[in-house]
Amino acid sequence: MRLLITGSEGQLGSELKRQLRAGGCVLGELPRELAGAKSFCTQFDELDICDEAAVDSYVREMCPDVVLHCAAMTDVDGCEEDPAQAERVNGTAVRYIAQACQGVGAKLVYVSTDYVFSGDKHSAYMTDDACVPQTAYGRSKRSGEENALAYCSRTFIVRTAWLYGFHGKNFVKTILRKAAGSDLIRVVSDQYGNPTNVEDLAYHMLLLAATERYGIYHCTGGGVCNWYEFAREIVRLSGHGCRVEPCASAEYPQKAKRPAYSALDHSALEAAVGDKMRPWQEALRDHIDRLEEME
Ligand SMILES: NC(=O)c1ccc[n+]([C@@H]2O[C@H](COP(=O)([O-])OP(=O)(O)OC[C@H]3O[C@@H](n4cnc5c(N)ncnc54)[C@H](OP(=O)(O)O)[C@@H]3O)[C@@H](O)[C@H]2O)c1
Repeated sequence: MRLLITGSEGQLGSELKRQLRAGGCVLGELPRELAGAKSFCTQFDELDICDEAAVDSYVREMCPDVVLHCAAMTDVDGCEEDPAQAERVNGTAVRYIAQACQGVGAKLVYVSTDYVFSGDKHSAYMTDDACVPQTAYGRSKRSGEENALAYCSRTFIVRTAWLYGFHGKNFVKTILRKAAGSDLIRVVSDQYGNPTNVEDLAYHMLLLAATERYGIYHCTGGGVCNWYEFAREIVRLSGHGCRVEPCASAEYPQKAKRPAYSALDHSALEAAVGDKMRPWQEALRDHIDRLEEME
């Protein structure tokens, strides 16, 4: 089997590469066909996904069986400042990727986000709930979903949220840095979601990619919390003495509106490949333990 990873130096792309090299992760081994797969990685400097002709010829040349499409414009406030660019990278470029996949008969795994929802529900979003994005990022990712489904018949949409891993910038790293340099940090307590260890996400994406069960999936850490509770657990597990205090989003205005509640339901994932997504506290503890071992 031949796999192509876009955005391969990003947070998720790096973890997918790691698991393909290792043949699995703490959650289990990869299916045999994936463990022996040949993977090709592409990053911005090698292939700009916004260049339709380049995408088409690259995919034809590599002739993958599966494309794991992780490249995206992920700066939510940056998307609000430049919605046209967000649409080009997160929406239109997905059509190029999907068309190219269809051309060579490849499966497409497109990673999407909780931002496709309005964020005003009070229970977990189901995969078929109405998408009413409130931000430029959310609208562009929804447009990417629609293009993936319209142009490639073998598409998996995998929505995730609140990602952290070893590679790149994320909330866990930010809180650890702040906790090391101050006595008090204040974190918003009125936005709820699912913290997700990128290791758990990458593993389930690869399990899905080995099936023919195309469709929309939600793949996030188990359990719901707010950012303040997430930060407090990061500080507690890392042993820093820093105090963490809750505050309201209104105190920290940001360009893009954040969803107030965006927990995602896993029933579709459970039915397709089983739901081994760990409770968020357990996945976080494992991550922080391993960060400490790496120091
Ligand atoms: N991070 C989260 O909390 C989160 C939550 C929900 C969903 N997601 C989705 O999960 C996926 C992976 O996220 P991530 O956290 O791994 O993102 P990331 O670390 O920001 O990685 C994205 C990668 O895409 C590359 N890229 C950007 N524009 C490109 C272009 N025009 N052509 C080729 N490559 C381009 C970036 O390269 P450069 O670094 O060189 O720009 C980067 O390597 C994305 O689809 C994102 O929307 C993320």
